Amino acid sequence: MKLWLLLLVPLVALIGYFASELTRVDLLLVGTVTIDVVDDGSRPAGGAVSYAASIVRAYGIRACVVTVAGADADLTVFNGHELHVVPAPSTLTFEHTYTWFGHQRKLRVTANPNVTLSRAHVPRHCQRARTVILGPLTQHELDAGSFLEYDGVWDALVRGRQHVGLMAQGFQRRLGPDGRVLPLLTPSPQLLAGLGRSRRVSLFLSDVETEPWAEDWLGLVVGSAERVLITRGSAGATEYNDTGVHDIHIVPVDKVRDTNGAGDTFATGYMLALSRGMADPGAHASWAASRAVMQPQSCKPHCAGDLIEGHVPAWGAGAKLLAAAQDLGSMARGLLDRGLREGLAAALHLRELPAGTLTQMAAKAGLGPHGPRHGAGGKQKGAGGAGSGGKLAAGLEDEDDDDDDDEVVMTVATVTL
Ligand SMILES: *[C@@H]1O[C@H](CO)[C@@H](O)[C@H](O)[C@H]1NC(C)=O
Ligand SMILES: *[C@@H]1O[C@H](CO)[C@@H](O)[C@H](O)[C@H]1NC(C)=O
Repeated sequence: MKLWLLLLVPLVALIGYFASELTRVDLLLVGTVTIDVVDDGSRPAGGAVSYAASIVRAYGIRACVVTVAGADADLTVFNGHELHVVPAPSTLTFEHTYTWFGHQRKLRVTANPNVTLSRAHVPRHCQRARTVILGPLTQHELDAGSFLEYDGVWDALVRGRQHVGLMAQGFQRRLGPDGRVLPLLTPSPQLLAGLGRSRRVSLFLSDVETEPWAEDWLGLVVGSAERVLITRGSAGATEYNDTGVHDIHIVPVDKVRDTNGAGDTFATGYMLALSRGMADPGAHASWAASRAVMQPQSCKPHCAGDLIEGHVPAWGAGAKLLAAAQDLGSMARGLLDRGLREGLAAALHLRELPAGTLTQMAAKAGLGPHGPRHGAGGKQKGAGGAGSGGKLAAGLEDEDDDDDDDEVVMTVATVTL
């Protein structure tokens, strides 16, 4: 018998899966880098991605960074990461005047590269990252929704398990006639598009952006995200998620030197804690932010993560394999659940079809009388076990609803149940 062959196939698939999980990029960071023109005439790099890159390095992670920059940008904050720059005639430039409204700084945009970053700018291997952090600074700079779209079944299997964090402050800012930056009164279309339809995104905002919103808007946004975290400066943060509304307390420090990048550090710390399966990501994020505010402005963003370095255990191969195994378990449960549900629905549907319809459909799809198994099998390249192929294909193809061929595969495959 060729029993050993039957065992070999799932074994090879399993080894392939764990190998690809081990070599998977930990983190993808996307957003525009800035030049921050400060009172004293210095021009440090800035922007959410700069702070995130600095924090991520402190966790011992080499990330993929995709940014837009002109020739005048200082990109040294990305040293040690895999950097992909979309070239532009100018770098996004903010002029800071330290007049404060509440705890909001007055900003003016003096140069804008006008490039909209999307998943198409991101190299393939970076798209597969375990965690994605998006950090737009202006409204039209990033197509966040593109990171929730999938190129077929295999892509959905891999990327569908990503943790996606959206630091959305930039989507909620509007340029006043004098170039001043003002918060929007409602969630922007860019923000809502970036949340997609499947409640997969962890959304980060500050109370500066959400304060002008009516209660209903906040409810809509909370209902469209996996979780929403609103940072409130020295008052801590609030997490809205499936279990309700939770306060996250600040970690007190002896001396707050500078709060620049505190929100970005909070979000980055949260996403890394989440993807590592830490017990309380909110508390961890709060701790990370407390380290960042102890650093002076003069060395930021480069030094933002210096006090974190060495205090977070490295994420070794063992931990990655364990996470991969847990992922596999939850994927299998999801597929089984889905397969049963779809199978049942299709079975009910089939009883009502006139005789001969299935044979016609199979012929239309170019499948022979014994074709269904092959047809279904071809669709589930790399997805694992041979026997359950029909179910797998049926469950997953459901993702795209406008493809006739897939419909046929689903119906035919169900017959083999
Ligand atoms: C970029 O955007 C700014 C502000 O909207 C606009 O004034 C400028 O003309 C744009 N530049 C290009 C090259 O489109
Ligand atoms: C919701 O947030 C709280 C506070 O951060 C956390 O303890 C809890 O585990 C979260 N629940 C979910 C479902 O994420």
